[in-house]
Amino acid sequence: PQANIGVVGLAVMGSNLARNLASREGNTVAIFNRSYEKTETLITDHPEAGFIATSTYDEFAAALQKPRTAIIMVQAGRGTDAVIDALTKVFEPGDIIVDGGNALFTDTIRREAAVRATGINFVGAGISGGEEGALNGPSIMPGGSTEAWQTLGPILRSIAAVADGEPCVTHVGTDGAGHFVKMIHNGIEYADMQLIAEAYDLLRRVGGLEPAEIAEIFAEWNRGELESYLIEITAEVLKQVDATTGKPLVDVILDQAGAKGTGAWTVQSALDLGVPVSGIAEAVFARSLSSKPAQRAAARELPGAVDAWEVTDRAAFVEDVRRALYASKIIAYSQGFDAIVAGAEQYSWDIRKGEIAKIWRAGCIIRAQFLNRITEAYAENPELVALVTAPYFADAVGGALPAWRRIVSGAALAGIPTPTFASSLSYYDGLRADRLSAALVQGQRDFFGAHTYKRVDQEGTFHTLWSGDRSEISAADAH
Ligand code: 6PG
Repeated sequence: PQANIGVVGLAVMGSNLARNLASREGNTVAIFNRSYEKTETLITDHPEAGFIATSTYDEFAAALQKPRTAIIMVQAGRGTDAVIDALTKVFEPGDIIVDGGNALFTDTIRREAAVRATGINFVGAGISGGEEGALNGPSIMPGGSTEAWQTLGPILRSIAAVADGEPCVTHVGTDGAGHFVKMIHNGIEYADMQLIAEAYDLLRRVGGLEPAEIAEIFAEWNRGELESYLIEITAEVLKQVDATTGKPLVDVILDQAGAKGTGAWTVQSALDLGVPVSGIAEAVFARSLSSKPAQRAAARELPGAVDAWEVTDRAAFVEDVRRALYASKIIAYSQGFDAIVAGAEQYSWDIRKGEIAKIWRAGCIIRAQFLNRITEAYAENPELVALVTAPYFADAVGGALPAWRRIVSGAALAGIPTPTFASSLSYYDGLRADRLSAALVQGQRDFFGAHTYKRVDQEGTFHTLWSGDRSEISAADAH
């Protein structure tokens, strides 16, 4: 056997990852695809890669040095189970199966336990960066055993993106930890994209700017604290002119955003964990709302704005939007990291938050300058309970507050939807509130369901006899 690594599944992501692996010193890559045609195409198109083409799982296993290591790059779901099944039949204890797809982390937990029972290692690895990243250097989030990481680590380090000299890959934790963190990455990605879209909408509708002008603004923002891949590509998309109509491309794209589900998974998991990822949730729901043409058509004539938002100082308005965007973005990341903390606790993963921020600095879709600040915040205080309270972020949000409030209130009066800007601000105000209206909610719960409450001035749990004489009793007496 000659290959030190194998790839199963040669669609775009798989082919690109295989080529990336082959291009690195010391790697020889065995490849396998369900239909041989794709394998054939890949070896013909890329002779320089020196791939070892195989046409059966037996051949594939025979081509791999021990411990055999294979990365599965197939559509998440049942296809993944079928490939795992086939590989466990031809692999031996100590070998390593890596799932590089966007698997649901609970599936990864289940698969890891099943594969481990055979003595084979199973690694669920989140891989981010799209087609380009797979080819030139993605950000990689592997979960699994320490034993597997020892073999796999050097290989993954060789293909990952590099940020400040460090490869964007780290052993995230056991079993589903890697796919969990990738899922949160995508949740943050949804929020980031929606925030940018809301900023664009305001610049266009209130600022009166054309897409090409807004592209310039985004390009400018990309030179400051907002510097990130998503801001950069936004400028590219806004610059694009449609060849058929001569209009800005963004004006001819149907305004219905699709989703493959990872954003929804983030919110579903966060609901289970009780983590308020409200910014991410609004971003997911904004896509859902956009994709309801019948409801939107039915609502089109409903009354809207009560105030035409006249901008007198356009430069100041643009700066307000930028600041509101930055503050909301901090909230989205803060919520995402809170979800990672909660997940780690629930599933007993030892996740180092600062390391996660580090491996998101390059290669992945949410790569951004300010992830350095997140790493620093966790380095300074590993027990940080809410990222937004770290000094740097608290200052940034505090400084942006007047702008943020002007933007959210202005948008509300002008009837312009800013679900993620607005919910992020509400979250911030909720978090910093001295007293929350939750006291009343507890009172209501006690009224109709005897759900009891605690008091600010005494230990214990209490219930008011609402349908009796309305005296208060200790809840211990109620049972
Ligand atoms: C990445 C992306 C990638 C993909 C998602 C997007 O990190 O490389 O997140 O995983 O683009 O599938 O998901 P939606 O189709 O749901 O927007």
